[in-house]
Amino acid sequence: MKSLISISDYSKKDISEVLEMAAYFEKNPNQNILAGKVVASLFFEPSTRTRLSFESAVNKLGGKIIGFTDASSSSVKKGESLNDTIKTIANYSDLIVMRHHLEGSARYASEVSKVPVINAGDGANQHPTQTLLDLYSIIKTQGSLQDLNICLVGDLKYGRTVHSLLMALSDYNPTFNFISHSFLKIPNEYKNFLTKKGIKYFEHEDFTDVMKYADIVYMTRVQKERFSDPMDYEKTKNTYVLKNSMLEDTKENLKILHPLPRVNEIAPEVDKNPKAYYFEQAENGVYTRQAIIAKIFGLKTINN
Ligand code: CP
Repeated sequence: MKSLISISDYSKKDISEVLEMAAYFEKNPNQNILAGKVVASLFFEPSTRTRLSFESAVNKLGGKIIGFTDASSSSVKKGESLNDTIKTIANYSDLIVMRHHLEGSARYASEVSKVPVINAGDGANQHPTQTLLDLYSIIKTQGSLQDLNICLVGDLKYGRTVHSLLMALSDYNPTFNFISHSFLKIPNEYKNFLTKKGIKYFEHEDFTDVMKYADIVYMTRVQKERFSDPMDYEKTKNTYVLKNSMLEDTKENLKILHPLPRVNEIAPEVDKNPKAYYFEQAENGVYTRQAIIAKIFGLKTINN
C-alpha cells in the first residue's frame, strides 16, 4: 500500500490503471469492497470538491470516514505537532487523506504514518488526485491524452493543480501555452522539467489568439490565500475572464476545464456553452477517487 503524494509517484502504467478503474466506477459506482476500512479525512485548509468527493467515494465503496474539516476543532489548536497528529490518527484509520497549507507536509506525513497517505493538496506544491481526475476528464472528452494543445491560464505560480497536471501530461507529448500575469508565471523548476523532457511550451500574457489552437483550456483561480502582499492580489485578480465571445473561433473539440472553485475567471454565461466541462470534471472526481482508493488498497472490483 503506497502513499500518493506527488503525481510523479505514479508511473504511466499506474495512471492508466486509475483511469480504467475510474471508467469502471463511473458505470458501477456502488461496490462494497471497502467494508471494514476506515479512511481519515484531515483538512487543514478549506475544501468543497476534494473533501466531499473523497467522502462520497468512500461511502460508495462501503467504507467509513472520520476526520475534521477545520484543524481548529482538533488538538492542533492546542499546539499539537503534525507528527503527533498523524501518528495518532494512523492508529484509528487504514488510510489518511490530508490537505495542508504547507508544501512538503503530505510527504512528511507519509514518512511518519504507518498507513498510506493521499495528498489532497499541499500549499502551492501538488494536488495529484485532482490531476488524475483532470486526466480522466481529458481522456473522456478528447479520446486520448496524446499530442494535445493545452492552455493553462491564471495563477501558474501558486496553482498546485497546474504543477501536477503539467508533470503528468509531459509523458504524452503535449504543447503547452502558459498564460499568466507577469507576477504569476510558471516557476522555473517546472519550465526546466519540461525542457529536460523535450516538451514544447510558450508563455503569453494575452490568451485570445492562442485559444484558437487549443484542445483544452484549463482556467485557474488567482489564489488570494497564497499572496503575502494583498496589493499584488488586487493587481492580478481579474486579469483573465473567459466569456462566450472568446470561444467563437475555437476548435470544435475544445473543452474548458477548471479545478474550481472559480471567482471571476469564467463568466457564468459560459456554463451553458457546450465547451464548458468544469462541473462534469468535478463529478469525475468521485469515480477517480474511488479508483485511487481501490488501487491503494489493492481492491478488486467485481469484474476484475
Ligand atoms: N479542486 C479543488 O481542490 O477544489 P476544493 O478546494 O473545493 O477541494
